[in-house]
Amino acid sequence: MKKRQGAARPRSAPTRSMLKAMAALALEARERAQAPYSRFRVGAALKTRTGEIVTGCNIENASYGLSMCAERVAVFKAVSEGLEDFDAIAVAADSKRLTPPCGPCRQILWEYCGDIAVHMVDLKGRTKTVRMSELLPMPFDAGHL
Ligand code: THU
Repeated sequence: MKKRQGAARPRSAPTRSMLKAMAALALEARERAQAPYSRFRVGAALKTRTGEIVTGCNIENASYGLSMCAERVAVFKAVSEGLEDFDAIAVAADSKRLTPPCGPCRQILWEYCGDIAVHMVDLKGRTKTVRMSELLPMPFDAGHL
């Protein structure tokens, strides 16, 4: 099994038009969110450097702790399909402030995607793009084991 080193290699930035297309897919995925408990719907669109895009939405459960975030659904779908070498993820939600990935999602994103661009978007069309290394500045990763 390959050990993943997180940000071993800095990822190049996707173009603005690509980020826009990813935001649209994340917003579309958000419509499929299963969030009857929190009513907070999130969509994600994860892109490989070669252009494949895999989406995810949050999926909640009556046993609340089993709920899964949109970002991790996208990562797990993509990795389970054999995709790798990601360069960006778009995250769509409807909140006062743009929604970044939660702590556990940051850890998973770091391990499987490294220092990718995180493009946040809301329903009003506001956006902000940051890098994973800004969201998780001192990561624990396979390099520590
Ligand atoms: N959630 C996500 O899917 N992604 C985030 O970045 C933040 C939180 C989900 C988890 C839960 O279903 C709901 O939003 C409220 O926390």
